[in-house]
Amino acid sequence: MTCGGDFLTLGLESSCDDTAVAVLRGARDVRSELLSSQTLDHAPFGGVVPEFAARRHLEAFLPLTAEALRRAGVREPRDEIGLVAVTSGPGLMGALMVGVMAAKALSLAWDKPVIGVNHLEGHIFANVVSFPDLLPPFLCMIVSGGHTEIVLVRGFGDYVLLGGTRDDAAGEAYDKVAKALGLSYPGGPVIDSLAASGDPAAFDFPLPLRGSQEVEFSFSGLKTAAATLIGRMTRDGGRIPLEDFCASFQRAVTEALMNKLRLASRLTGVRSVSVSGGVAANSALREALRREPGWRVCIPPRDRCTDNAVMIAAAGYAAYQRGERSSLSLAPDPSWEIWKK
Ligand code: KG4
Ligand code: ZN
Repeated sequence: MTCGGDFLTLGLESSCDDTAVAVLRGARDVRSELLSSQTLDHAPFGGVVPEFAARRHLEAFLPLTAEALRRAGVREPRDEIGLVAVTSGPGLMGALMVGVMAAKALSLAWDKPVIGVNHLEGHIFANVVSFPDLLPPFLCMIVSGGHTEIVLVRGFGDYVLLGGTRDDAAGEAYDKVAKALGLSYPGGPVIDSLAASGDPAAFDFPLPLRGSQEVEFSFSGLKTAAATLIGRMTRDGGRIPLEDFCASFQRAVTEALMNKLRLASRLTGVRSVSVSGGVAANSALREALRREPGWRVCIPPRDRCTDNAVMIAAAGYAAYQRGERSSLSLAPDPSWEIWKK
């Protein structure tokens, strides 16, 4: 089987709390994509419970894969699928293990190659799938529940980490502040929708690392400032003006992200900018990016910002074309780093 435009890649993603399967034809023709979200299962715990996540992935993978193949019109996967691409890190060990084992079993049964994909390279490819003319060099800011990183994509497979967070990830800050406000998990989308009718100037939150000339983030101070304010307002018996509070917090996070993205662009001279990860679904961030003068901005559709298997299939297909392969000894690597520093 050649690696041409008709080549079908099966993508599997299970690094955290979403089980996702996709069939991709060539580099970006999505034939099917399915996702089983565990958000409601973990919501009562206020965060992802790793063992529970792994068990849910185990239950979801086979029916999801069968349905994704059916929707893609694949009757004989052994003849029609060219490659199995699976997230093999970074992520939760047990969760990754389920995906990697499923991918290796399918690869063995169908006698087809398997390739382990880095989840963060996958997030970069969420943009590549959505924007055919997005070519390196470009910047990609990955902002999710576990990551806040700005990466220079010098070429596909050639990534330089310009900077990341010293402590909490941006999505983590959203989730923790939402929890302190008594809002549901995941907190980002809830804060985002409350913020829509609030005043972003109502509260003055500290802007993390504003003066630093390093591409680095810190969200724990902002989170603590928010928690302290919530504590004070609650103690005083007052009602927290939720909309204003959320809008102001969201403004602080957005400005912190935009400031460092601007710095990264100045330092590298690269004005082609993309974003990915759950927080890239945030309305204020999307709006700020669109308004930034002089940049060519790529913002994937919201469902490609959060975890999905299309991005994994696309990154796997590109790596396969570059000649990369994994063997059947492929094992999950929960802290896999692909960046050059
Ligand atoms: O990429 P993702 O689906 O999973 C990983 O963490 O890998 O990102 C989930 C994170 C959560 O922290 C969630 O609160 C945040 O993305 N998020 C948002 C929005 N939608 C999801 N944060 C701010 N605004 C949103 N609209
Ligand atoms: Zn992710």
